Amino acid sequence: MRKRSTHLGRGILLIVVGLISWQVRLLAQPPEIAPATRNFMQAKLSHSQKVLEGLSLENYELIAKHAQELGLLSMESQWQVLRTQRYVDQSADFRHAIQHLVDAAKSKDIDAVALAYVDVTLKCVHCHKYVRDGGGREGISVLDAKSIDTGIAASP
Ligand code: HEC
Repeated sequence: MRKRSTHLGRGILLIVVGLISWQVRLLAQPPEIAPATRNFMQAKLSHSQKVLEGLSLENYELIAKHAQELGLLSMESQWQVLRTQRYVDQSADFRHAIQHLVDAAKSKDIDAVALAYVDVTLKCVHCHKYVRDGGGREGISVLDAKSIDTGIAASP
């Protein structure tokens, strides 16, 4: 009985995860960005799909590996498209969610992994929403954002 309800729980989680991933795709329809940046951003999608694959196969190594790759991407200068405090905060939230995902994978807890994956995916969606809004209340676009100083070193 306990086993059945756990299976049901996992099934529902996987459906939720699938739906949210699909949403990320929709919300990720970009404005004008450089092809190199686009490739960089696309890599996030590949890694998160790999995490979903790991989640479906209960392959914790695969999950941890690609979660870590996602964390590393968020440290790259190409990630820093907007130079606003909100963007910096959203990036920090993203890294925290990634850390939870890595920890859950290391402790081989599939339910915790599924929840952490949903949380990471929500961070993707929130940041994209903010970026699509042109930087939200700060009212800046991706293109003129470079002139705003938040103390992050400019990319070369
Ligand atoms: C802190 C902000 C932030 C987070 C978190 C974030 N992204 Fe992005 N993402 C961006 C920015 C900025 C762009 C480029 C500008 C745009 O497309 O509007 C982008 C673009 C994309 C694109 C479009 C690339 C293209 O073809 O143009 C994809 C796909 C994408 N992100 C996937 C993801 C996934 C998957 C996650 C979560 C695992 C994620 N992103 C998390 C900021 C973020």
